[in-house]
Amino acid sequence: MLKDELQSLLTSVKEHLAEITDADQLRQYEFDILGRKGRFTNLARKISAAPASERPALGQLINTTKQELEQVFQTVKESFAARSTADLEPSLDVTLPGVHSAQGHLHLVTRAIEEIEKIFLPLGFSRMSYREIEWDHYAFESLNMPKDHPARDEWETFFISEKEVGKYGRVLLTPHTSSGQVREMEKRKKRGEGVRMVNIAKCYRRQIDISHLPMFHQFEGLAVDTTVTMRQLIGTIQHFVTHFFGEGRKARLRPYHFRFTEPSFEIDVTCGICLGRSCAYCKDGWSEIGGAGMVHPNVLKAGGYDPKQYTGFAFGFGVERSYMMKNNLNIGDLRLLYSNDIRFLEQF
Ligand code: PHE
Repeated sequence: MLKDELQSLLTSVKEHLAEITDADQLRQYEFDILGRKGRFTNLARKISAAPASERPALGQLINTTKQELEQVFQTVKESFAARSTADLEPSLDVTLPGVHSAQGHLHLVTRAIEEIEKIFLPLGFSRMSYREIEWDHYAFESLNMPKDHPARDEWETFFISEKEVGKYGRVLLTPHTSSGQVREMEKRKKRGEGVRMVNIAKCYRRQIDISHLPMFHQFEGLAVDTTVTMRQLIGTIQHFVTHFFGEGRKARLRPYHFRFTEPSFEIDVTCGICLGRSCAYCKDGWSEIGGAGMVHPNVLKAGGYDPKQYTGFAFGFGVERSYMMKNNLNIGDLRLLYSNDIRFLEQF
């Protein structure tokens, strides 16, 4: 009987559906039952063989069976869809913290240079960055250090060429920022001006060990005018020390000798740890930061200024050294600063 066959098809479909575990299987099974040549479709066709009197009731039964079959397939499909989003849920956990992109920062020496520049600009100093490849003339000769003068030995110099070019001499890697002094004087004198500059640049010396680098930075202050005094030199240095290292840090002058300044000094700053009381770190309460002095008359002359009318002061300090002193960093090996090891640089 068609009626019984329809009923048993419905029952067996329901049973089989309970065993189906994946969507592909489900699609295939639906096709086997409800497709054009599916089992239900074939059964429904048999209506044509039934006696005419039974057909209306059978037709209705076929319709309701079809609706019921479609309904059970639909229910199973929906439960599959719900399950597949449930599977995805762990990777959609909106409560997890986001993935941050790595954030970098400027190299600590770059930061130190920016800070130093900001301290001198309000005093009217122009920021300069004189060259790394320089003539002997500007690095030594015009700074009152004639050829073969033993004072030159202190600036263990890399020479680039043996060839002497007139008064300029040989080409070298500048060993200090003082080579910018006469260059700046020549430029300003031509314009009929005095000088107030801070030259922050790279310097090179034939030295490398845990506390010396073959490439490092200095900043050089230079003021030349008709009224420049040593009090101004001291005031300018103290201004820098207060602003860079902080209130309460003091500078002192210690007599020294440079060929390009007279008188000359080395400048010390009170130690950041003991503030001058003396500790194991600094020994006597002071740390050296660089050299300074009143510009030597021969240097003024080399720059085009008449030493009878003009005076000047100059100082040259190390950038890396100042940064270490400011932050009380006792970096075991200074070469780490330029080894490009991100694990080291990230700490600052
Ligand atoms: N150029 C000197 C050095 O490298 C420092 C200095 C600069 C000294 C200016 C006096 C005046 O050691």
